[in-house]
Amino acid sequence: MIAPPSLRIGFGVSGPLGQFWFREAELRAVIRQALDGGVTHFDTAPFYFDAEKRLGAALAGAAVFISTKTGTRRHGRRLVKDFSATAIREDVAESRRRLGRPSLDLLYLHGPTIAEIEAARPVLDALKREGRICAIGVCGEGEPLAHAVGTGFDAIMGAYNVLDRRHEEIFAEAKRQGVLTVAVAPLAQGLFDPRFNRPRTLSDLWRLARARVRGRYPPAAIAAARRALGDADPAAAALGFVLSNRDIDIVMTTTTKPGHLAATLAAAPLSGERCKALNRLSLDPELRRS
Ligand SMILES: NC(=O)c1ccc[n+]([C@@H]2O[C@H](COP(=O)([O-])OP(=O)(O)OC[C@H]3O[C@@H](n4cnc5c(N)ncnc54)[C@H](OP(=O)(O)O)[C@@H]3O)[C@@H](O)[C@H]2O)c1
Repeated sequence: MIAPPSLRIGFGVSGPLGQFWFREAELRAVIRQALDGGVTHFDTAPFYFDAEKRLGAALAGAAVFISTKTGTRRHGRRLVKDFSATAIREDVAESRRRLGRPSLDLLYLHGPTIAEIEAARPVLDALKREGRICAIGVCGEGEPLAHAVGTGFDAIMGAYNVLDRRHEEIFAEAKRQGVLTVAVAPLAQGLFDPRFNRPRTLSDLWRLARARVRGRYPPAAIAAARRALGDADPAAAALGFVLSNRDIDIVMTTTTKPGHLAATLAAAPLSGERCKALNRLSLDPELRRS
């Protein structure tokens, strides 16, 4: 069983933070700020470009928890799925090397089907016995995520925010069973920011382009969420909404900006009244996407 951290905010090193054009010194500064702010849980993945290597270097010697993933590989511009035992073993060896750690605190299967989860189980158990990984989890959506609960996995990672409430029951059941629950996309990958469509940095442009390609949330729902979250501090309200759900152990977010991180670190659960108002935003299941 993984002990939940006392500060429920986690920091993900992904997206622009792993790209060659994002200065490593800036990444180190935000990671330093996160550490100083009490963050103890970091997340990354081999397919987030140079993220693992950069995170490993920035956290060298720090007594913190790092999760990473397996099952998705970058082949040039394409992402390819591979949950074979050989691929998982290779990924674990490479992640340990890049992170500079003898063992991985937590390894998630990234976006598996139920069949892929079951096929991967023997190699995951073996890697645990060998001491190469300490804990295993599933990062994904819907049925595979539900399947991970109660079948020997230590953690689940899934999307959760004011618009996307699909995994609420799965998180609740996981919490009952002592499985670590990690919510991603608490800020809908930046879309709740009213300035999202007015990029100021290369990272902003990158995220805008990614959102246009993915088109994950209906524009009308985003507009409604922005209105309901208000102008004062929409990110703090969106994070506060997720923090208000006690079934969530860790709210995993990310940022390239020290000012945004300061707001994130100050986020706190919302009042019942405020949550009730935001509850109305929840999308119909068929519209919900992470
Ligand atoms: N979402 C997924 O599908 C997924 C899947 C697997 C794992 N993860 C993990 O989850 C982590 C979190 O990523 P996410 O994209 O899901 O997180 P998120 O919290 O939904 O979105 C992060 C985005 O919000 C912006 N932001 C952060 N703080 C802000 C603030 N105070 N005000 C306005 N904008 C703010 C950031 O841009 P700025 O740089 O401009 O602040 C960034 O674009 C990842 O790093 C990764 O480790 C996510």
